[in-house]
Amino acid sequence: MKGRILTTGGAGYIGSHTTVELLKAGHSVVILDNFENSDRDRVARIPLIAGTADVRLVEGDVRDAQLMADVLKRHKIDAVIHFAGKKAVAESVANPLLYYHDNITGAVSVLSAMREVGCKNLIFSSSATVYGDTEMLPTRETAATSVSSPYGRTKLMIEEIIDDTAASLATFRAISLRYFNPVGAHASGFIGECPRGVPNNLFPYIAQAAAGIRDYVQIHGSDYETSDGTGSRDYIHVVDLARGHVAAVEHLLSSSADYAPHRKVNLGTGQGHTVLQVLHAFSKACGFQIPYQIGPRRLGDVPASLADPSLSLALFGWKPELDLEEMCRDHWNFQKRERDKSNIGMRIPPVTHKATSDHTDPHRAHQLTSGSRNVLN
Ligand code: NAD
Ligand code: UD1
Repeated sequence: MKGRILTTGGAGYIGSHTTVELLKAGHSVVILDNFENSDRDRVARIPLIAGTADVRLVEGDVRDAQLMADVLKRHKIDAVIHFAGKKAVAESVANPLLYYHDNITGAVSVLSAMREVGCKNLIFSSSATVYGDTEMLPTRETAATSVSSPYGRTKLMIEEIIDDTAASLATFRAISLRYFNPVGAHASGFIGECPRGVPNNLFPYIAQAAAGIRDYVQIHGSDYETSDGTGSRDYIHVVDLARGHVAAVEHLLSSSADYAPHRKVNLGTGQGHTVLQVLHAFSKACGFQIPYQIGPRRLGDVPASLADPSLSLALFGWKPELDLEEMCRDHWNFQKRERDKSNIGMRIPPVTHKATSDHTDPHRAHQLTSGSRNVLN
């Protein structure tokens, strides 16, 4: 069944890739974003990549429950994928109330609006951070949860809020997707991750070092009990992750889907890679050795994180297809294009935002026109 899907935070890194895959699968999409960590330019590229303009943009804030209800009603939304929120772990430690306020209020607002208008299907962006330093490796969804940052705690709290909401509404169904480490970019190089300031995460830091923006990569610890002493993670290509959302939402929309009010499901590959393995693979992708130095452990890091991805396969038939080489290739391809913005500007025509019939709506829904599509080779 094809649906009308609302992606909150759909202009962001994972939301934009998911919007592309939803469109490619034949769904129509409304993006709602306040652009606090993204920009209109990225949204403008979505129809170019997806090859369809069946996507609208509402500029607004998920914490505005009235706006949420209006959007759900006006666009007859079948399912919501809730990405919008803050995600910087260190910032959440420095300013926990900001995270509790924004992330929790946002989720409560989405749920209240869904309840008000009777929208029954929700996918929530959760995180493997809810497993903390688990002893169960690979980690199944049944593992005990334990969080070490306010950011992580908001993910766990929101999962619990969804549990309670699902228990109170007869036909409501939700899936919280617990992402492992999303990396990479769309193969076109038109969308990817653009961290503001100094990146905290490994892939964007390596990419910036490769592009000459950073002098070298600091490896946070080499005395872990892993194959080479550096931290190990389950990296997952963002396009695979996006396709996981499509499979999950189609599972919810399918009438034959099993009935469970709220499932928690890992999205990972089941393959672990150390920091040194990633550095070597990235160096291979860009054709030169990226400089690095070994430093001390980073506070709060776990030695290793690894998904057991079997539930996603059993439940909605999804499994990842792209390997570390492709993650590095696509991440580097995007970073190179970003380095030369003027080159991108020449290749992508300006996209006009054609107002839809509800152009008088203060919430400003725009249909995005795709411009000329032949820029995609
Ligand atoms: P992102 O910051 O790139 O995207 C989030 C989007 O939400 C941005 O476009 C931002 O402008 C928008 N937004 C933020 N607050 C908003 C608000 N109040 N109203 C409307 N829009 C708002 O982040 P991402 O990496 O795409 O992550 C998406 C989700 O996945 C987040 O909930 C994040 O916590 C979760 N997640 C991300 C990772 C990761 O490594 N990227 C890992 C696990 C979970
Ligand atoms: C971090 C967050 C986690 C969040 C995830 C999102 C912390 C403590 N954890 O996890 O809550 O869900 O991002 O993707 O911030 N590394 C280096 N040098 C660097 C950067 C990272 O050696 O410059 C190492 C880290 O020590 C780790 C690995 O690379 O071993 C991956 O780090 P990162 O990309 O930050 O992800 P996580 O630590 O898994």
